[in-house]
Amino acid sequence: MTASPTPRTYRVKSFGCQMNVYDGERMAELLADKGMAPAADGEDADLVVLNTCHIREKAAEKVYSDIGRLKKADGSKPLIAVAGCVAQAEGDEIMARAPAVSMVVGPQAYHRLPELLDKAARGERATDTDMPANAKFDALPQRRRAGPSAFLTVQEGCDKFCTYCVVPYTRGAEISRPYADLLAEAERLVDNGAREITLLGQNVNAWTGETAKGHTLGLDGLIRELAKLPDLHRIRYTTSHPNDVTPGLIAAHGEVDKLMPYLHLPVQSGSDRVLKAMNRSHTADSYLALLDRFRAVRPDIALSGDFIVGFPGETDAEFAETLRLVDAVGYAAAFSFKYSPRPGTPAAEMDGMVPMTVMDERLQRLQAAINRDQLAFNQASIGTTCQVLVERKGKHPGQWLGKSPWLQSVHFIGEAAVGDLVTVELTEAGPNSLSARLLQPALA
Ligand code: 5AD
Ligand code: SF4
Repeated sequence: MTASPTPRTYRVKSFGCQMNVYDGERMAELLADKGMAPAADGEDADLVVLNTCHIREKAAEKVYSDIGRLKKADGSKPLIAVAGCVAQAEGDEIMARAPAVSMVVGPQAYHRLPELLDKAARGERATDTDMPANAKFDALPQRRRAGPSAFLTVQEGCDKFCTYCVVPYTRGAEISRPYADLLAEAERLVDNGAREITLLGQNVNAWTGETAKGHTLGLDGLIRELAKLPDLHRIRYTTSHPNDVTPGLIAAHGEVDKLMPYLHLPVQSGSDRVLKAMNRSHTADSYLALLDRFRAVRPDIALSGDFIVGFPGETDAEFAETLRLVDAVGYAAAFSFKYSPRPGTPAAEMDGMVPMTVMDERLQRLQAAINRDQLAFNQASIGTTCQVLVERKGKHPGQWLGKSPWLQSVHFIGEAAVGDLVTVELTEAGPNSLSARLLQPALA
């Protein structure tokens, strides 16, 4: 490979989960710190970072086809970096198969992107998929930009080893970022305009930290401390595992006003046989009992979950148990996926692969049930008054888009600005959004 001129503009394309969105933002900050500018819409970028996801489907194939398609208007290739979980899992293969790629950088090593860029400028291709715990957070520049709703990664990795899941291998063992660092980053985000912070972690409720006085805190303690920041109005967290929910976290939902009434708690299946084969270590009943405890302290809490259909060996009767669980919960939102064998995971070796046509049919039925409940949840809020955090302008003149406390997308017309918390009356509901009437402009 020949030496390339130092890139001037960049584009970071993030796929997959919110943690990748967070990582993508941090990589952009790092590149800006190196004197580069984001490429404008429609403009070619000198450097493209593909921040990839490996959780499902043919993730690696998609990366290769993206690499193939990346071209500037003059037909030349931009400098290409592959980051994220595909980089972690298949970095060496990518380097061997895709000569257009100059840099491969794993999710725990992207703070070293500037060094890789320097190497690329000298014509050297380089891979960095080390997994040093927390090193990247110490090496990243301070947060500079924040929209009204910001992500803050507090925990990474997972020790649960669900048998279908690649995360424990690509993101590594559970680590918690130190409490003082999180407080400092949250303060920076709020100073830069964030009014809502979503605490992120693959298993966020396993977060643990220590105060300066040596007190151990769990996620609920962190939430209570962040709630003391005067200009921070909303706190959310995702994703949780049923087995790491503590009584303190449940109590916080009843006591901390700034903690939004929304819980994303994946269940994956309603069948205890399938849950056991998935190594989920909870049952359908223990999951339902847990939700009841949240509802007891916060009756209006919106519930969300993740589901996998067609796990190896899943029978019609077992799938019917999933539908029954959905009926019992009444989700406000939920995500459902067809099982996808992940190389190196135990489930990929299991017998009883469910035919694709059966998976398709199950997914359709499950999504119909979820959509039905989502619409019912939205319709039940018609006529009520709530606060909306304004996130951006809508397509129509004078229209604004934002989120209700229950994470519903709400649009309204009136006087407002990005970052405002306005009071609205919800007037109409669809499955994915609600219309509202502005009652009171910004409080803050
Ligand atoms: N196949 C299908 N879905 C998966 N998920 C994780 N691994 C797989 C897989 N191999 C889903 C789970 C998880 C969500 C983030 O992705 O539902 O909660
Ligand atoms: Fe994957 Fe979530 Fe299970 Fe961890 S808890 S192994 S991230 S599905």
